[in-house]
Amino acid sequence: MSGVGTGPERPGRVGVAVPAAGIGLRMGGVRKVFLELAGRPVLAHALRPFLEEDRVVAVVVALAQDDAASPPAWLTGLDARITVVAGGATRTRSVRAAIAALPDDVDVIAVHDAARPLLTRALVTECVDLALEGFGAVAGSPAVDTMKVVDASGTVVETPDRTALWHAHTPQVFPARALRAAYADEAVEGTDDAALIERNGSGLRVKMVDDGAANLKVTRPTDVPFAEAVLAGRVEPSA
Ligand code: CTP
Ligand code: MG
Repeated sequence: MSGVGTGPERPGRVGVAVPAAGIGLRMGGVRKVFLELAGRPVLAHALRPFLEEDRVVAVVVALAQDDAASPPAWLTGLDARITVVAGGATRTRSVRAAIAALPDDVDVIAVHDAARPLLTRALVTECVDLALEGFGAVAGSPAVDTMKVVDASGTVVETPDRTALWHAHTPQVFPARALRAAYADEAVEGTDDAALIERNGSGLRVKMVDDGAANLKVTRPTDVPFAEAVLAGRVEPSA
């Protein structure tokens, strides 16, 4: 990874789209982006590495409709670059709403799930640099378990070659024009942003950036103590 403190290698204007409008079903119906980890909301942890990056000129957070109507004061007061929009019924719709509210003149757009509070500044820098070079950049980690393709009855269909499989996380960062084009068709849905880029057929090369697997998405109640432990073990908050 690029070292933190070496300064940005490439100049550019970065917009950040943060889907934060989920209802947290697997967490038991909790708005998990407002859960506190080490005394700060999950969303605040997720935003921090972007706010530390000078190239970031705008951050749009897509909140659930009622939260967007009266966003928490800590969020609106956190940084002048932050604005809030209402998200949609799916992650794709929330990301689309956030992208639409970013300034037209950003060079690259980073999409980052509010539910991933453990990303580092170095990871953001590396993904942003790749996108400013004209690539797509997807944070993720190589599969460590044997993976199975399973049918609806739970029966194993096949065992794909694990060496070719990665988990896709966020941030996912792309040249702005390519990402806007991938989201332009309102009927398109996907579980991540790179999938929409692939479907759009622009031929953009998308590279995986190994995030060391600690960049977990807070999804189930058991993820909370894990995330707290990772945060507690860091000497620097975003090292
Ligand atoms: N998200 C969103 N709008 C939606 C659904 C999800 O902005 N309609 C966001 C979530 O807030 C989260 C990210 O997308 O930051 C990844 O989604 P996920 O982890 O699945 O969160 P939830 O959808 O809230 O959780 P669940 O699927 O368990 O209900
Ligand atoms: Mg979800």
